[in-house]
Amino acid sequence: MIAIDALSHVGIVVPDLETASTLFAQRFGCRVSAPIDVPEQGLRMVYVNLGAAAIELMAPTRADSPIAKFLERNPAGGLHHIAFTVDNAYSAAAEAAREGLRILGAGEPRPGHHGRPIFFLNPRDVLGTLVEVEEHVPTKNSDAARNLSGVDLK
Ligand code: CO
Repeated sequence: MIAIDALSHVGIVVPDLETASTLFAQRFGCRVSAPIDVPEQGLRMVYVNLGAAAIELMAPTRADSPIAKFLERNPAGGLHHIAFTVDNAYSAAAEAAREGLRILGAGEPRPGHHGRPIFFLNPRDVLGTLVEVEEHVPTKNSDAARNLSGVDLK
């Protein structure tokens, strides 16, 4: 069993990060982080703070970004993945393999943009949904701190 700890975030791919940030900040009154560049994934993202969890808004920064391909299929953007936190990403990955759940890419956790290990499960194994599994930050002071560590909120 992979012991999921909490919902970390819901990832949405958007064609324009500025427009999407404005929607959440002004229409919905949410706190939105400063943009974070993730060059190795060819994307730029912001986090929309929703207390214990967040929405991750992602826009591609180059044509060969994996999410650029997603936008080709979904030009208006759309729901891309959901992310759960676990205590230890490596034991969760080992457990996933034992359960027959396929891990995308190299088949083992890699550092996320925040430095904590993450991995993705094959959507075919999880109800057609791309699932990110993320190791939460060591501090347990608050749910928000666990899920949004390292993100500066405006
Ligand atoms: Co994510």
